[in-house]
Amino acid sequence: MKRLALLGASGHGKVVADAAIAAGWGDVVFFDDAWPNVEKNGHWAVVGDMAALLSRVHEFDGVMVSIGNCEVRWQKQRSLQDANGAIVTVVHPRAYVSPYARVGRGSVVMANAVINADAVVGDAVIVNTGATVDHDCALGQAVHISPGAHLSGNVSVGDFSWVGVGAAVRQGTRIGSYALVGAGAVVVSAVAERSTVVGCPAKPISKA
Ligand SMILES: CC(C)(COP(=O)(O)OP(=O)(O)OC[C@H]1O[C@@H](n2cnc3c(N)ncnc32)[C@H](O)[C@@H]1OP(=O)(O)O)[C@@H](O)C(=O)NCCC(=O)NCCS
Repeated sequence: MKRLALLGASGHGKVVADAAIAAGWGDVVFFDDAWPNVEKNGHWAVVGDMAALLSRVHEFDGVMVSIGNCEVRWQKQRSLQDANGAIVTVVHPRAYVSPYARVGRGSVVMANAVINADAVVGDAVIVNTGATVDHDCALGQAVHISPGAHLSGNVSVGDFSWVGVGAAVRQGTRIGSYALVGAGAVVVSAVAERSTVVGCPAKPISKA
């Protein structure tokens, strides 16, 4: 039975675990620094903290970080890589990933998501439930495309950026690194690095 260890016993972690089981992983367990106070994450056991995972990483056929925060996800993935963990990519069987697209290590593609031809998706990226990443899009590392968000063709999203639930992005638009696109935003022009945009058409607001 193939065993997968997930770091991050969160709600997002539950969805990753579910996708992994659907994709054929036989056993999934969580590690989280909230252990031993937290011993369950939904249907799955939490069996240790980050230090425990680093020391036991070779017991698992695969490891993945299931933490929503993009920068934390990336840092933790780097630590697992440094410990020679077998970082895996999880694609839910009811997602469509074009054979002409690329999806990086440690990335997860949830149910009903679509990644079309010639899209390039970096490492530690979340393409969440029902999100679409159309042809020729380029997503950097540790990006999160939230549920139901849609990137038209040729959109680029810089490292560590987060596109909120239900957002829509016009074709060819560049979203800089560390940017945040608010829930439901309609992005029709470039989004500057480290900015937060909301609304239709999306405009910058200052971050809280
Ligand atoms: C954009 C966002 C990050 C702003 O969060 P915040 O910094 O806490 O900001 P606040 O909630 O204090 O709102 C600040 C102002 O922006 C407005 N605003 C916030 N989010 C907005 C959005 N998505 N669209 C339009 N306006 C929004 C608020 O109404 C408020 O306006 P006001 O000053 O006139 O009252 C957040 O609302 C958001 O959309 N996050 C994405 C959530 C998401 O997609 N989750 C998916 C999880 S998988």
